[in-house]
Amino acid sequence: MKDQYGRNIVYARISVTDRCNLRCRYCMPAEGVQSLPHSTVLSYEEILRVAGCLAKLGITKLRITGGEPLVRKGIVDFVRRLKSVPGIEKVMLTTNGVALAELAKPLVAAGLDGVNMSLDTFDAERFASITRRDMLPKVREGLCKLLESGCREVKLNIVPLAGINEADFAEIAELARVHPIRVRFIELMPIGCAAASGYKGLAMAQVRDILEEKFGALLPQLSRQQTGGPASYYSIDGFQGQIGFIDALEHQFCSSCNRVRFTADGFLKLCLNSSAGLDVRQLLRDGADDRLLCESIEQAIYQKPAEHFFAQTGNTMRDTRKMYEVGG
Ligand code: GTP
Ligand code: 5AD
Ligand code: SF4
Repeated sequence: MKDQYGRNIVYARISVTDRCNLRCRYCMPAEGVQSLPHSTVLSYEEILRVAGCLAKLGITKLRITGGEPLVRKGIVDFVRRLKSVPGIEKVMLTTNGVALAELAKPLVAAGLDGVNMSLDTFDAERFASITRRDMLPKVREGLCKLLESGCREVKLNIVPLAGINEADFAEIAELARVHPIRVRFIELMPIGCAAASGYKGLAMAQVRDILEEKFGALLPQLSRQQTGGPASYYSIDGFQGQIGFIDALEHQFCSSCNRVRFTADGFLKLCLNSSAGLDVRQLLRDGADDRLLCESIEQAIYQKPAEHFFAQTGNTMRDTRKMYEVGG
């Protein structure tokens, strides 16, 4: 469906939990994380009802997010059921990879079309420092299983952190040489714990310089307009896969934004950095029928804000939700 600015909204990101088995410094505080009580989290049945409405409104792609979506019980069966919603063509998932050693194969067998996996470093000490958990071996195993799983679309997400993980860029990018995957560098966004972490993001131009010094020229392949997503992609001579850059601050891509989000407690969030949206859980639990549910969601999506206003200090609509509550 089209929003008030004529953008074609075809993609919804659905968070199934705000819980996580890691504590990445730029995303979550070390302690005192107040998880949502189970009763406020949408049940799979409720999400499936919402997905049916979204499909009727022209949404064809769903991405399951968290927190960490693989910590929620029954996720494999949920993927299977989402895939069978008429009109939903693609079901993808974003994960930290900890549980992929066990779940990559069953998820792909259940019909999952793609996995985006976070990986900021291959160094055990740096991994433990960034995520506050000593889980690199699990994540490495998860990555291996993912690459063997036959998953059609694999992307790795790295957040470049100044003075922290520069040494990892080439090693992680190297994976796109032998595998047909996309390795993406994401500019640190000023959301949630990013400022408190003390980390400084690195400009994508610097990341690019580091990669070009090692691998030679990065050749433009797909622009953001072509992918309909936040990343632009480049190829490197001899690589099967591609290198991507997500620079929401440097190159604002709001005018071509195609997505909305649902938090785990059923809030339809219209923009990553805005609190504008609709309490869909309330509607569901007040007994709204499908017609009212669909019409309400349609009206809300129509109102999607023009842009994220990251740079605007007096923005009263800025959301105070953290990244793990939103699902990225
Ligand atoms: P696909 O386009 O389906 O590959 O998904 P994606 O790249 O958006 O998904 P992923 O969950 O891997 O997110 C990667 C990064 O992109 C995260 O840091 C997200 O917060 C960021 N991101 C995703 N959508 C948007 C958006 O609409 N605006 C901004 N500013 N960032 C976004
Ligand atoms: N800025 C940019 N990316 C972030 N992520 C989490 N917090 C931030 C932030 N403040 C990334 C994770 C994951 C993706 C879903 O979002 O690294 O790959
Ligand atoms: Fe968990 Fe992802 Fe946040 Fe890390 S970035 S704490 S893996 S939700």
